[in-house]
Amino acid sequence: MTAISHIETIAVIGSGQMGAGIAQVAAQAGLQVRLYDLAEAAVARAETGMKRSLAKLESKGRLPEGETAASVIARVQFTAVFEDLADADFAVEAIVENEKIKKELFAKLDGLLNPRAILASNTSSIPITRLCAATKRPDRVVGMHFMNPVPVMKLVELIRGLPTSDETFAATTALAERMGKQVCISQDYPGFIVNRVLIPFINEACYAVMEGVATPEDIDKSCKLGLNHPMGPLTLADFIGLDTVLAIMDVLHSGLGDSKYRPCPLLRKYVDAGWLGRKSGQGFYKYD
Ligand code: CAA
Ligand code: NAD
Repeated sequence: MTAISHIETIAVIGSGQMGAGIAQVAAQAGLQVRLYDLAEAAVARAETGMKRSLAKLESKGRLPEGETAASVIARVQFTAVFEDLADADFAVEAIVENEKIKKELFAKLDGLLNPRAILASNTSSIPITRLCAATKRPDRVVGMHFMNPVPVMKLVELIRGLPTSDETFAATTALAERMGKQVCISQDYPGFIVNRVLIPFINEACYAVMEGVATPEDIDKSCKLGLNHPMGPLTLADFIGLDTVLAIMDVLHSGLGDSKYRPCPLLRKYVDAGWLGRKSGQGFYKYD
């Protein structure tokens, strides 16, 4: 069966920081959006955050010609009812970075959506080929990896699973470009491009804290001033979410089988303590 090539309605599953950003950028691009999360509180938070973000863009005159914050948000349906996603031509999930939970979601989406609809994952590291295999439409499954914060970052990595069709890849590329993003293509290896490079760097900064090389403040200051990075690696880890950083490091370690990717024990300890970074109020730094 061929994939839908003309996409008008997009389902975004998971309304955390990534899902909310993807939904906003899709609505700004003129798409109809269904933004779903199983936690009603997360749906409400996404709605409040998107209203604030769009109001700021409107006040700076950065919305497309003829659009207002209200006209953009009117295209987004915020929902905690899974069946509301049924009419989507394209679904992109941004739920927790856990292979088992993502596979269960892909099987459920496969049962609900039009058989020609494309199912994409915003996973940071999980093999796309395995997500393809969780559905009866493996040729219509693809990796579509946005960067955080989605409204600001220009890149989308596209990842082709072994069975992903050329048609699915072309439709997903066109969609990313319609959403104002530039595309890079990665083969389906753990961490793809960005996280293969970034997450071991962050992990090494965690080891530097654990070994007492320097304080988190001085590690971050060194990378900002010495490397011209916009954020130091520990601030960035708190921004991404320490649970997500650890999950990616675990995938690199198990997927590549090399001890150089072993996650830093201090990072694991923080996650065990519920110190997930900015989203929980505590990580390498404290947040209000
Ligand atoms: N949503 C919308 N706009 C946002 C935003 C958000 N969440 N955060 C910041 N912005 C906008 C601000 O409104 C501001 O816009 P104006 O210039 O029009 O005023 C602009 O971005 C700059 O923001 P700030 O002045 O508040 O702060 P800043 O200059 O420090 O920039 C930043 C913030 C863009 C996040 C910058 O610090 C940065 O680029 N950090 C690194 C981000 C990064 O590396 N992301 C990739 C993470 S890895 C990943 O995503 C993959 C993965 O799988 C883990
Ligand atoms: P987050 O913790 O902010 O949000 C995840 C959301 O998913 C939560 O609201 C949660 O309630 C919801 N959720 C969990 N299981 C669900 C399910 N079965 N059905 C529906 N909703 C469910 O996480 P995030 O930072 O937005 O990351 C989401 C995904 O995006 C992960 O795969 C992550 O690796 C990837 N990603 C994250 C970043 C980043 O910087 N944080 C960047 C790129 C990609």
